[in-house]
Amino acid sequence: MSQSSDIERLRALSGIKWRRYGDDVIPAWVADMDFPTAPAIIDALRTMVDASDFGYNGVSFDDSIPKAWAEWSERRFGWRPDVERTKVFSTSLQAIATALMVGTSAGDGVLLFTPVYPPFFGMIEKSGRTLVEYHLDQAELRIDEDLLRSAIEPGTRAVILCNPHNPTGRVFDLAELTAIARVAEERDLLVISDEIWQDFVYPGARHIPFASLSTEAMARCVTVTAASKSFSLGGLSCAVANLGDARVAEGFAALPPHLLGDVNALGACATLAAWTHGEAWLAETVDALHANRDHLVARLTAELPEVGIAMPQATYVAWLDFRRTGVAVDPAAQLLKRGRVGLSSGPDFGVAGEGFARLNFATHPDLLDQIIDRIGLVCHATA
Ligand SMILES: Cc1ncc(COP(=O)(O)O)c(C=O)c1O
Repeated sequence: MSQSSDIERLRALSGIKWRRYGDDVIPAWVADMDFPTAPAIIDALRTMVDASDFGYNGVSFDDSIPKAWAEWSERRFGWRPDVERTKVFSTSLQAIATALMVGTSAGDGVLLFTPVYPPFFGMIEKSGRTLVEYHLDQAELRIDEDLLRSAIEPGTRAVILCNPHNPTGRVFDLAELTAIARVAEERDLLVISDEIWQDFVYPGARHIPFASLSTEAMARCVTVTAASKSFSLGGLSCAVANLGDARVAEGFAALPPHLLGDVNALGACATLAAWTHGEAWLAETVDALHANRDHLVARLTAELPEVGIAMPQATYVAWLDFRRTGVAVDPAAQLLKRGRVGLSSGPDFGVAGEGFARLNFATHPDLLDQIIDRIGLVCHATA
């Protein structure tokens, strides 16, 4: 679908992506896609709506979603999460925050590979845990085993791994994941593995679930994912977590009943439809994003070589380095003000994000071109 036929729909949406800024701004920030939803999901939701099927919902209580995820994960990544050890949550962040509360104590250190998805920082700070950072080398973006060992402090108890990695688009490979598993074993760390970007991996890279490495890795891991990123269902709130770590599983079981609430029936319905009937739609979407990624990188390299871009191996976000441009100080704010284009602010992803901004390229190609044009105008005007 072209931008011209879809822009009215996008501008009328209630979601935050298109609502936050004025009508003259093209948003390229929060990780929602601009494409219409997969027909299989719309059909499933429509059936519920048409039947006024809004009573307490079986799908959110039984094991249909854990089973659907287990099959999805086995088919796509060769790892079948244990249904018995899988819980359904409202959001991935709820599952991650709860795992952190249950699996660590106040004062414990929690390691992040920074720059990283901003909500993790607040979770650590507000729960009285201590932030421990592994600063990814901004050129290589690789995890080095010895550097990881030296980043870990005596009170470090957990790692929140984001793989594929937001915002850099890195897919950590077998050697890197094995290194994390080895260090976690040595230092008795809980690994909370956020794999919500698992489905957007481009040719040349492969997603390896951390828990699939070995029985030992699984036994110290909580794997969190959802259909919400792959199918752009963020507002429907449904996620899953495999509680491989027995201590964490016991901690969850001991929580007061109802503390976490139940999953919304529409979110459960959409998730089930996505994981059972959504694969062909997803494959087409990943192809479109792959083309967008290549187009973005080709245009930036040719027209704006002063803007650095690490080729994303996965995700639909690009981590742009504006440090050699005239908008090096909070580039997202300057691009919004001068260019009317809304990127995510780099410093929100940690101190390593100074001089960077994150661009969401999950949009129609003509809108993506306008986003690049606007960035180019601002960079050239401030050069
Ligand atoms: C790495 C990562 N984790 C979690 C989320 C949020 O997921 P949820 O809406 O299920 O909490 C996002 C959303 O962009 C994300 O990028």
